[in-house]
Amino acid sequence: MNEIAFLNGAFLPLADARIHIEDRGFQFADGVYEVIACLGGTFLDMELHLERLYQSAGAIGISPPVSKRRLGELAQQLYLRNPHLQDATIYIQITRGITSRSHLPTASTRPTLVMTARRLELPDEAAFKRGLRAITMRDMRWQRCDIKSIALLPNVLGRMEARRKGAEEAFWVDDNGHILEGCSSNVFAVIGQTLVTHPQDHHVLGGITRHLCLKLAKQHGISVQERAWHPREAGLKECMVTSTSWILLPVRRIDERRLRAPGPVTQQLHALLMQHLSSLRRKKDRPA
Ligand code: PDD
Repeated sequence: MNEIAFLNGAFLPLADARIHIEDRGFQFADGVYEVIACLGGTFLDMELHLERLYQSAGAIGISPPVSKRRLGELAQQLYLRNPHLQDATIYIQITRGITSRSHLPTASTRPTLVMTARRLELPDEAAFKRGLRAITMRDMRWQRCDIKSIALLPNVLGRMEARRKGAEEAFWVDDNGHILEGCSSNVFAVIGQTLVTHPQDHHVLGGITRHLCLKLAKQHGISVQERAWHPREAGLKECMVTSTSWILLPVRRIDERRLRAPGPVTQQLHALLMQHLSSLRRKKDRPA
């Protein structure tokens, strides 16, 4: 299989795509990233992902080396140059570039732009029925979780701790025990009849799947609240996570608390999302 990557203006075999060891992404995690789903050739909310990427880059003072529009075209080209892929995720990373190691970057560094394409295996029916187990952990990340930074060490440690405790995801909680988000997912609860998720502020990433879920829920008459919520709150019936790679998965346990999974609201939202994805896929089936 000839996997093709993109590095600073060139498409090349993945195995030949090398980064300088003084790239600031490697030495300081000085960069931002995106993960975008491509369903049989149609990108899911490409504009929103690019918008978030440019916002993240701007927030840390990096000017991406190409325009948003051009980057979108390059992502499409990368998908087409990997014909073994049907559903894929395109990973995009922009770092501040290469300088001899110094905390203060020199003004003249040229940002590094990297893209890779991987098979997207959406969770199947069995995985949806099984759901996830989650643990809670005191949030130990920085104050700007809205920036999609490549500095993911806490998220890696959180996921390792979840694994150690027999779970698949760790949920970050604030000082008051409110659930913020997961290591690589946003979290929704159903409390009473209402779909609840933490507001989009500096403590969580503004997930593109989160945004799509909220939109679909509102369109289909599910009542929605963006507010802080607690895993021991009275009336908590269902919980689910959303992300580009999982789309939506039910949560069957938070720490020791068991939940009905998948509950009725989770099933309804999941069905709405799957319909939406199928309609995108139908738009442009890759020639076999
Ligand atoms: N992660 N919150 C965090 C901390 C995330 O890392 C992610 C996604 C999300 C969900 O965002 P979206 O719906 O836009 O994918 C929320 C990606 C998939 C990753 O790191 O691989």
